Amino acid sequence: MTGARAVVTCRGPARARRGAELSQLEVLPDAAVLIEGGRIAWVGPHNDRRAIQSAIRHPQSPIEEVEVRGVLFPGFVDCHTHAVFGAPRLDDHERRALGATYQQIAAAGGGILQSVRDVRARSEAELHAVTRSRLLALRAHGSTTIEVKSGYGLELETELKQLRVIQRVSESERLQLVPTFLGAHEVPAEYRSRRAEYVRLVIEEMLPAVARAQLARCCDVFCEPGVFDPAETRAILSAARKAGLALKLHADELEGSEGAVLAAELEALSADHLAGISDAGIRALGSSATVAVLLPATMSFLGRQRQAPARRLIEAGAAVALATDFNPGSSPTPGLPLVMSLAVSQLGMRHAEAVVASTVNAAAALGLAEDRGQIAPGFAADLVACDVWDWREVAYWAGANLVTAVWTAGSACPLSPPPVSLGIHVEA
Ligand code: NIG
Ligand code: FE
Repeated sequence: MTGARAVVTCRGPARARRGAELSQLEVLPDAAVLIEGGRIAWVGPHNDRRAIQSAIRHPQSPIEEVEVRGVLFPGFVDCHTHAVFGAPRLDDHERRALGATYQQIAAAGGGILQSVRDVRARSEAELHAVTRSRLLALRAHGSTTIEVKSGYGLELETELKQLRVIQRVSESERLQLVPTFLGAHEVPAEYRSRRAEYVRLVIEEMLPAVARAQLARCCDVFCEPGVFDPAETRAILSAARKAGLALKLHADELEGSEGAVLAAELEALSADHLAGISDAGIRALGSSATVAVLLPATMSFLGRQRQAPARRLIEAGAAVALATDFNPGSSPTPGLPLVMSLAVSQLGMRHAEAVVASTVNAAAALGLAEDRGQIAPGFAADLVACDVWDWREVAYWAGANLVTAVWTAGSACPLSPPPVSLGIHVEA
């Protein structure tokens, strides 16, 4: 690939970047990228013909030169989404604007349990059609690797239905999807008065069935006062680890309950949200491999003043990543570039930190730091071109879609942005 104004390589160690490393970003002007067999073979000055020639492993195969416009980045990695849902939650949105609290919205029939009723009622075919379209919309905003959670089933069959939808989309589309089982997203209505039984159901029936079906790579729990407490979270995640799943936590999203401390102790891949993290939580993430995944679009969509303390986390040495949290209740945001912009304006992150947090560190939050998130030899050739002059514009034009081309495994993906609205696919 040639012609790019600049190539933002994110090249460096194949692991999460912490502290000062987060702002060290390699940007090569007038660079070319050589791709062979779906992987990056070489990146460097476009006029260094000799280096390019010697990097080619199969000189007899024809070389196709692709002209790129704008700035080339590694494909963005969206490491936290709840993309399998049906209807948007417009009433929640409006009630919140009028001052309703989380509890009032839930009491009025909204919140997570509204999406649960909706997803339970929808056929797998409907859910697949709308999820496919939405994931392609995320890709049209530059995301080539996307973590997708279940969690709107809260009963075995519907959780499996969501996970099968994720599998089907990953089989048919040029996208790397990482499926996560989130059976402990909320206590379903039918278990409200016997929550211990629900936790037991998750541990004894749901987790083993999900693991047997090999439909999830990670397990997540919404650890938050009023949802699942640290003891319940620990029990579920310990069982998940035994079942062979990697661990993630919705930790300290709103009020906080030392979820980040627990995530570090359990050696989870990531602790996500963190607006309510404690000093002890910051210290714990500063000295552990657990990635701190920040979701500024969520707090901003919810109209909350408080955001995760990104600067304090970075100063403490934590590996900070960013994600959209794409979901119908708190973040109907398909694009990581908008999240990068919010990271700069709301979290006080530098442009370079926002880019590293959406590539290298987001890949680390999925256990993929050795394979994705960098334009460097050996890495998957997942790339995104943005039609900008200066690479920092990716985090500047808040809400504009700057993406003009996306490649996965070295091949161009169709881009016409698919609809995200439900009625376009099926009747609500
Ligand atoms: O990440 N915190 C829990 N889960 C989502 C919200 C999902 C929903 O409201 O449907 C989140 O914000
Ligand atoms: Fe979430």
